[in-house]
Parts: sequence; structure tokens; C-alpha cells
Amino acid sequence: MKKISRRMALKTGIVAGIAAAAKASDAASILQVDHPTPSEIKGPFYPVVAQKDKDFDLTVVDGRSTAAKGEAIVLDVRVVDTVGKGVSDATVDIWQACASGKYSHPHDPNPAEPDPNFQGWAIVPSGENGSLRFKTIMPGAYPAAREWTRPPHIHFKVSKRGYVELVTQMYFPGHPLNTDDRLLNRKSDAEQTLMIAKHVSDTPKTFHYRIVLQKA
Ligand SMILES: [Fe+2]
Repeated sequence: MKKISRRMALKTGIVAGIAAAAKASDAASILQVDHPTPSEIKGPFYPVVAQKDKDFDLTVVDGRSTAAKGEAIVLDVRVVDTVGKGVSDATVDIWQACASGKYSHPHDPNPAEPDPNFQGWAIVPSGENGSLRFKTIMPGAYPAAREWTRPPHIHFKVSKRGYVELVTQMYFPGHPLNTDDRLLNRKSDAEQTLMIAKHVSDTPKTFHYRIVLQKA
């Protein structure tokens, strides 16, 4: 009798355990928590020269008739919180080198030719559901030190009240210079995956980049 009740108790315990695990897994699938986008150094070339035109289209500068040199691309960005909810009206600040790898910054030592028709800097709000689209050009690689060439990347600073400000750099998938980049390679494989945009279309060439902000 004692033996049966112990067996029963054990059985009931196992069933209860399975039920609890199922409940936990349901909860996890409903409330999947994302890792925030890893941060990265701001670097020395955050713009310091005032410019009026900081809109979504970096391929054309207001008042100039010639488009920027280089391969035009679209960046389809979505800003979300750690449970995947879109964050609208976040301030998204991006800056990058032109096609030759030169920043519009007085202290950039790269001897490459600057492109006066490239906007190079944008500050725009995220829209409904945290979505926004930039038109820009594929940034050029540039020398950072002896035997170190930075792969094409775009700098981001994303802020909104109630969230931790994110400063990071976005990379392009499959670029051969990614492999040896001294900054990107300090990150774990999982972190690198979060920092590399996804190629989603060729017409026009479009990359998707998901930015996950952490609540403050
Ligand atoms: Fe950079």
C-alpha cells in the first residue's frame, strides 16, 4: 500500500513537472526576450561640421545636382525593444565613410578622395513600429592602422527616453574584411550575428538591420 502511494506520488510529481515545463516553454515562446544589440566604440569620426541636410537619403545633398559616387543601397531598419515591440520615434543617428572610404571629418587622415555629393550623416526618427529606411551608398573600406583595414560599416547612435542609448557599428554580410577586423572579432559569434545586416533584396540592393534597445 505504502509502495503504491509512493509510486503514485512519484508519478503525480513527474506529471506535474512535465506540466510546469510545458507552461514555462509556452511562456518563453510568448515572451521571447531578445539580446540587446551589442555596443561598439563611436570611433574618431563622428561628424563635427554642421550640415543642414540630414535626411533619409544620403545619396543626394540638398542643393547639389550630382548624386554620390558608389553603389546605392537601401537600409531597411527596425528598432525594437527586448520583447520585439517596435520602438517608434527613437532618434536614429548614422554616419559613414563615402565610397572611397573617406569621412567628412577634418581629422580623417585617409588620403582617399572625399565625395562632396555624399551626405555622410543623417539624424532621423524611427517611424510607426520602429521602422525606417535609408538610401545610402555602400561605404568604402579604409585603413585604420598598419595591416588593418576596416571593413565597410555604418555607425549608429540610437536613443529614446526610457531606453539605454546604443552606439554601435553595422556590418555587411559576407564581406571578406569582416573576418580580420579587430573590432568585430572581439565580439562573440552570437554578437557578430546581431551586428551584421541581412541581405534581403537585389532590386534595389537592400539590407535589413534589426536594432534591439534595452529599457533603462
Ligand atoms: Fe568607421
